[in-house]
Order: sequence, then C-alpha cells, then structure tokens
Amino acid sequence: MLNILLSSALATIIFPRTSQCIVQDVPSIFGPVPNIGDFSGVNSTRYLKKRPGDFVHPGIWHTHEDLERIRTNVINGKEPWASAYEQFSADTYSQATYKIQGPKPVISRGLTSNYTTFAHDARAAWQNALMWYITKNESHWDRSTTILDAWGTNLTNIIGIDRSLLVGLDGDLFVNAAEIMRWEGNWTESGARWQGGSGFSNQLYWLFARQSAVVGQANYGMVSIKAMLSFAVYLNDVQLYNYAMNAYIQDNCAGLFAQYKPETGQSVEAGRDQGHTMSAIGWAAYGARVGQSQGVDLYGLGHNLLLKASEYAAQYNLNSTVEYDSAWSRCEAVLVNGPWDTISDANRGVSSKIPIWDLVYYQYVVRRGEKAPWTTKAAEHEGFEGAVSSNDHPSWGSLIWAH
Ligand SMILES: *[C@@H]1O[C@H](CO)[C@@H](O)[C@H](O)[C@H]1NC(C)=O
Ligand SMILES: *[C@@H]1O[C@H](CO)[C@@H](O)[C@H](O)[C@H]1NC(C)=O
Ligand SMILES: *[C@@H]1O[C@H](CO)[C@@H](O)[C@H](O)[C@H]1NC(C)=O
Ligand SMILES: *[C@@H]1O[C@H](CO)[C@@H](O)[C@H](O)[C@H]1NC(C)=O
Ligand SMILES: *[C@@H]1O[C@H](CO)[C@@H](O)[C@H](O)[C@H]1NC(C)=O
Ligand SMILES: *[C@@H]1O[C@H](CO)[C@@H](O)[C@H](O)[C@H]1NC(C)=O
Repeated sequence: MLNILLSSALATIIFPRTSQCIVQDVPSIFGPVPNIGDFSGVNSTRYLKKRPGDFVHPGIWHTHEDLERIRTNVINGKEPWASAYEQFSADTYSQATYKIQGPKPVISRGLTSNYTTFAHDARAAWQNALMWYITKNESHWDRSTTILDAWGTNLTNIIGIDRSLLVGLDGDLFVNAAEIMRWEGNWTESGARWQGGSGFSNQLYWLFARQSAVVGQANYGMVSIKAMLSFAVYLNDVQLYNYAMNAYIQDNCAGLFAQYKPETGQSVEAGRDQGHTMSAIGWAAYGARVGQSQGVDLYGLGHNLLLKASEYAAQYNLNSTVEYDSAWSRCEAVLVNGPWDTISDANRGVSSKIPIWDLVYYQYVVRRGEKAPWTTKAAEHEGFEGAVSSNDHPSWGSLIWAH
C-alpha cells in the first residue's frame, strides 16, 4: 500500500524526517509514513479516499448540514446557539467593516515572528464566512472573499523555523473560510487561470500543503496532520489526504496512537506542560472533525482514545491527581528538555484561553452518549469559548460544535 501511495509521478523523492528544507526545497509532499497497520494495529485502508469525486463539500469543520444547524438554531433563538451568536456577531473579527491588515508578500514565524496581519485576517475571513452563512448579508461575503483574494494573490513565501505552526494553525482557519465561500457562496478565486494562476489554491498547494508535509513530533506534528486533512479536502487532493490520514492513525511520533497511552490516556507531553498537552487534544479533535465531515470516524479509534486523553487531561487540570508513567514520553523529548520524571504543573488549569472542551464534550457526551465526567466538568468550568488571542483554536464552541 505504501508503494501505491508513493507511486504518483509527483512523489518520486522521499525526504528524510529530519530534513531542514525550506518551503521551496520541499521536493514532495510524501514523506515517510509507517506502513499501514504497522504502528497502531489499525488497518487504515478504509479511512482513505480513491478519487477526487469521493470528497464531500463543504467538508472541513463545517458541512452543509452543520452550517444549516447553526443558522436555523440562531434564527429560531435556540440555545446554546442564540447566546453564542450574540457574542460571536459582536466580535471584532465578525464585522463586515473589519479593516484588512494585509496582504504581505512574506510572513515569518520563528526567531522573527511577523505574521499577525495574516493571523488577524485569517480569523476575520473565517468569522465573516460564518456571519455570511448565518445572515446571508452580502457585506460579509465581500469581506471574507476580499481577504481570501488579497492574501491569495499576494503571499509568496512563509518562512521561519516555526512556519509549520503558522501554516497549520492560522492556515487552517483560512482554508475553512475558503471552503465555505467556495461551496456555499460560489466564490471564484481571483488569479485562478488555466495557466500561471496565482490564486488561493495555488498557494495552498505550493506553500501550505508542502510545508505541512514535514510532520514534526507530538503536538507539533499533529498541527500539520490536521491542517493537511483540511488543505487536502479543499484541493480535492487524494494523495495528500491519504498521506495525512495515514499519519493521523499510524505516525509513530505524532499520530493519535503515538501521543496517548492506551490504558490511561496520558499524553506524551504531560511531563512537559499542560498547555501543549491540552492544545494537542484540540488539534487531534479538529483532524477527527475533518474525517467526520468526510464520512469516517476517527473519534472512535482506539476505543475512544481521544476521549480517554481528554478525561486524563481534564482530571489533572481540574486539580485531581492522575497516574503518571515517565516512560510514556514523546519522540525527541530532548528537544524540549525531556523526558520528564513527573507530570508537569506548568500551565495547569482549565480555562477558555485553551478552548478545547466544547468540541470533545458535544462530540462524545451529547452525540454519542459516552460518559465523560471530567471532560463535562472541564467544559462547565472553562465557561464560554469566546474571543481568543491566537488562532491555536477556533473557539466559539457552543456556536460551531454544539448539537
Ligand atoms: C487492510 O485492508 C485492506 C482492505 O480491506 C486489505 O486489502 C489489506 O490487505 C489490509 N492490510 C493489512 C496490512 O492487513
Ligand atoms: C517578516 O520577516 C521576514 C524576515 O526578516 C521578511 O522577509 C518579511 O518581509 C517580513 N514580513 C513582514 C510582514 O514584516
Ligand atoms: C449588512 O451588513 C452591513 C454591515 O454590517 C450593514 O450595514 C447592513 O445594514 C446589513 N444589511 C442588511 C440587509 O441587514
Ligand atoms: C495584492 O496586493 C496588491 C498590492 O498591495 C494590491 O494592489 C492588490 O489588490 C492585491 N490583490 C488583491 C486581490 O487584493
Ligand atoms: C451558487 O450557484 C448555484 C448553482 O448555480 C446556485 O443554485 C446557488 O443559488 C448559488 N448560491 C449563491 C449563494 O449564490
Ligand atoms: C486548582 O487550583 C488552583 C491553584 O490553587 C486554583 O486557582 C484553581 O481554581 C483550582 N481549580 C479548580 C477547578 O478547583
């Protein structure tokens, strides 16, 4: 199967995991992925796609059905949507009058970080896309698509040692905006031509997707994996989707089974700090959400392994004690001062600054009827998932994830 995945004409070169490539150097999206079935014991074949026609659109975080649920519940004043919308629609990034901060030709995250114009604009593009869907007001349509086109035709490079995070976090909001506007709003990218196009998907293909193919370790790697799933859906890119899906299930340093101890749900980064531990659960959950839009269930993998991870993290971050195994540690822990003898209390605590709990709660407790006392308590304790200061998480959970 690996041979089949690698047999595309594009996929002739395999780069090493430790490659120091810059964006332009990445020769191929198909880095090394363990053989199907080898690492997790799950045969991932049935999670993969065969042809572009297999994709569902819109189908990243929000399917047509999801968007309709949000819109009709807001219009009918149903909770929790109505109250969430009240705050969401008043947020700066939801305004049709939002002032665009870009575009810029080159942005960087790392030693030099100067990507905030993109971060703000990406959030405004996504929130205006949702605003347009809910209200059908053309000025939101204009704002969202103007931002997509401005960056889509002007950005030429993404640099810096942590560019994967920029691409995988801010880029994911951006592509979610594009998916809604394209498939629900009939938006056509400016710059798109039969030859020499310069539009949004051109960049998504050459700048974003290729960067994400260099999958790092643990939480960092999951950022890339979940973003590649999103990018692949927008692009109808079967190879990229299968690469990402396979990595989600099989990657032995960044995949779901590599990060959470099957018996307890302990994260490989529990000894590092709680911020990375909790955020990574959100990242895995967004990836699984893309799978769900595309018709496969990643939430159920490993007997609800992601829920186990959430329960463990919620319990500890709500000040209860948990069993800690110091041998359950991430690949290249030495890069981040590990491995660790004890669980870390750095960033310990549940709050809406890391708004990951609504998605897990609605998905497992409300939709599946699973028992998840700690996750439920965490969702209550964090309060409303509203405005956030970064794009690490979309937030606004009771508007977008509620069921
Ligand atoms: C995985 O499942 C597919 C489809 O059912 C099958 O063809 C393949 O042989 C299986 N692979 C392994 C490693 O068991
Ligand atoms: C960000 O920094 C890089 C590297 O110094 C530079 O090339 C780029 O133009 C800068 N971009 C912005 C928006 O300031
Ligand atoms: C659409 O949104 C704009 C900007 O917020 C507002 O000025 C306008 O009144 C709205 N149009 C309708 C029909 O509500
Ligand atoms: C790209 O940037 C240039 C210069 O800032 C601007 O004139 C142009 O309108 C931008 N493209 C779009 C589609 O906004
Ligand atoms: C998009 O195009 C389709 C097909 O032409 C049409 O049915 C639909 O109403 C359009 N939607 C919008 C929002 O313009
Ligand atoms: C956990 O302990 C911290 C520090 O004492 C406290 O600030 C926080 O409110 C506690 N959290 C819960 C859920 O009780």
